[in-house]
Amino acid sequence: MKAERCVELTVLDLVPFGQSESDPLFFALRLSCPNWQQWTPGQFVMVRPLSFGLEIPWARPLGICQLNSQHLVCFFQVLGRGTRRLAQLRPADKVLVWGPLGNGFAMEEHKPTLLLAGGMGLAPFVGYVHRHPQPWNLNMLFGHRPPLDCYPVDSINERITLDTLRETTPGDLDNLIFSLEERIKDNAEQNGLILACGPLPFLRTVHGFVLKYKARAQLSLENRMACGVGACLGCVTKVRKNNQDPSDQETSYQQVCTRGPVFWAHDLVL
Ligand SMILES: Cc1cc2nc3c(=O)[nH]c(=O)nc-3n(C[C@H](O)[C@H](O)[C@H](O)COP(=O)(O)OP(=O)(O)OC[C@H]3O[C@@H](n4cnc5c(N)ncnc54)[C@H](O)[C@@H]3O)c2cc1C
Ligand code: FES
Repeated sequence: MKAERCVELTVLDLVPFGQSESDPLFFALRLSCPNWQQWTPGQFVMVRPLSFGLEIPWARPLGICQLNSQHLVCFFQVLGRGTRRLAQLRPADKVLVWGPLGNGFAMEEHKPTLLLAGGMGLAPFVGYVHRHPQPWNLNMLFGHRPPLDCYPVDSINERITLDTLRETTPGDLDNLIFSLEERIKDNAEQNGLILACGPLPFLRTVHGFVLKYKARAQLSLENRMACGVGACLGCVTKVRKNNQDPSDQETSYQQVCTRGPVFWAHDLVL
């Protein structure tokens, strides 16, 4: 990792999302500008508040939602002790951030591009939608369980067609799976591009339909990470060694942090 990519940043603000939640679990974290020259939506940062001290050794990976000359913005959901501590950050607190890490999503501006997001998998698409030069070629299907106002959907809604499906019953899950198959099939027939991010069961479903309809798709994995730079091997995923030959079943393991988190679907064994 280049030294200039690991920077100490200042918390500008931490904005809770979800009007209906009395104890918010969703936040937009805005940090001072790291002065990185380039980034691609789909890349991520490792974030470690200085207040962690020796108490929690690992940083936490978060997708980059926005990065410009003013600030770096990430959006996160509180799940465990790391993100619970991130939710306690206050303006002027200091955090150590390294990035931008990994590979971002492909951008084929003239192609119909289908964005499939499950839950917090929405985060990297905030940046993608804003950076895309022809947003009329994008449409998104977003499946979620908490209320919609827990997610930063407004800035996406302004620019593209966004369809949301809230899952509260098993029937809702069936609807989501049905819609995923329809959309993937349709996109494959147009030789478009599909980008997906979300929890593993969601990605497995997408992966199955992508292979079935021979769609062109990239999936962003959210494996647990420790170092974020390829050193600890804690984040590996199974990949096919030879994706040109479907009969060749040989596999190997690759680090998600450096070889991903975005992979072409046909390379992955999920
Ligand atoms: C490349 C990448 C980008 C990410 N981007 C975002 C983002 O933009 N916003 C966001 O909210 N989260 C994102 N995540 C997931 C986030 O890093 C984890 O939710 C976080 O590290 C959990 O830490 P914790 O200490 O709060 O939870 P832990 O105490 O470590 O775990 C609490 C619970 O969460 C589960 N968990 C832990 N890590 C993950 C994970 N990666 N995926 C699903 N469940 C997990 C554990 O199994 C456990 O049940 C990203 C992950 C990766 C790898
Ligand atoms: S997180 Fe350490 S190798 Fe990927």
